[in-house]
Amino acid sequence: MASITEKRLSLHRRVEVQQHQNEALKSQLVGLQHLANIGTVSHMIAHEMNNLLTPMKSYATFALDNPDDRALTEKALRKAANNCERASKIMESMLALVNGEKQEKTNVRLIDLIEEIFTCLCRDFAKDGITVEIQVPDDLAVFVVPVQIQQVLMNLILNARDAMLPRGGVLTIKANEADETVDIEVADTGDGIKPTDLENIFETFFTTKADKNSPAEDSGAGIGLAFCKMIIDGHRGCISVESKPGNGSNFKINLPKPKSGSS
Ligand SMILES: Nc1ncnc2c1ncn2[C@@H]1O[C@H](COP(=O)(O)OP(=O)(O)OP(=O)(O)O)[C@@H](O)[C@H]1O
Ligand SMILES: [Mg+2]
Repeated sequence: MASITEKRLSLHRRVEVQQHQNEALKSQLVGLQHLANIGTVSHMIAHEMNNLLTPMKSYATFALDNPDDRALTEKALRKAANNCERASKIMESMLALVNGEKQEKTNVRLIDLIEEIFTCLCRDFAKDGITVEIQVPDDLAVFVVPVQIQQVLMNLILNARDAMLPRGGVLTIKANEADETVDIEVADTGDGIKPTDLENIFETFFTTKADKNSPAEDSGAGIGLAFCKMIIDGHRGCISVESKPGNGSNFKINLPKPKSGSS
C-alpha cells in the first residue's frame, strides 16, 4: 500500500500538471482574445470605409450618367478626393488603435469637425426631407483625436438619418460647455428605439437593419455604435441615449475637458 508521503507526492504532481495546463489555456485565451479584437477592428475598418465609398460611388455613377454636366462631374471628383483623404486618415488612426499606439489629441473647433462630416456624406439631407439644425457655438473647442470624433459623429448622423427615412424629420446637433465636460447631443425625430433594444444597441453586431426591406439604404452590420462607444471610452468620456418608440432618439456624449496645463 502507498504511504501517506507517496500519496502526497503524487497529489502534488497532479496539482503541478493542472497548473501548467491552466497557464497554457490562459495564454491560448489571450491569443484568441487578440485575434477576436483584430477581427472586430477589421469589421470596423470595413464599416468606416463603406461609409465613405458609398457616397463616392453614387456621385461617380451619377456623373457618368450625365457626361455633359460639368458641375456634377466636378462635385463627384471633389467628393472622391475628399473622401479618399478622409479614408487614409481613418486607416492610419485605426491601425494605430489596433497596435495600441497612443494617438495625439489636439484642440479643435467642434463646428469645423461637424461641417467637414457633411461634405463626406451621400446626398443632401434636404432631399430626404430632413432639416439639419446645428446649435454649436463657433468658439467651442474639444480636446480630442479629431478623426475619431468625426467617425463617432458620422455614425450617429447616419443612424439618425436611417431612423427618419422615408418620412423625413429634424436632425439636431447641439453642444455646450459644462464645468468639466463638453456635452454634445445628436437628436432625431425618427422612429425611436424599443426599450428591449436600448439595452443592446452598443453591443457589437446588434442591428435591427439586417432586413433588406429596412428603410435604411443598406442593411446594417451593427458596428457603428459599438465603435462609437470604443472611441468615446478611449477619450475617457461617456455616451448614452434617451429614446422612446415613436418619439425620436437623443444620443449624448460627454467629453472631459483637458486639465489646465495639459495641451
Ligand atoms: N437614431 C436612432 N434611431 C433609432 N434606432 C437607432 C438609432 N441609432 C441606433 N439605433 C438602433 O441601434 C442599432 C445599432 O446601431 P449601429 O449603428 O451600431 O448599427 P447599424 O446602424 O444597425 O449598422 P451599421 O453597422 O451600419 O452602423 C440599429 O440597428 C438601430 O436599431
Ligand atoms: Mg449605424
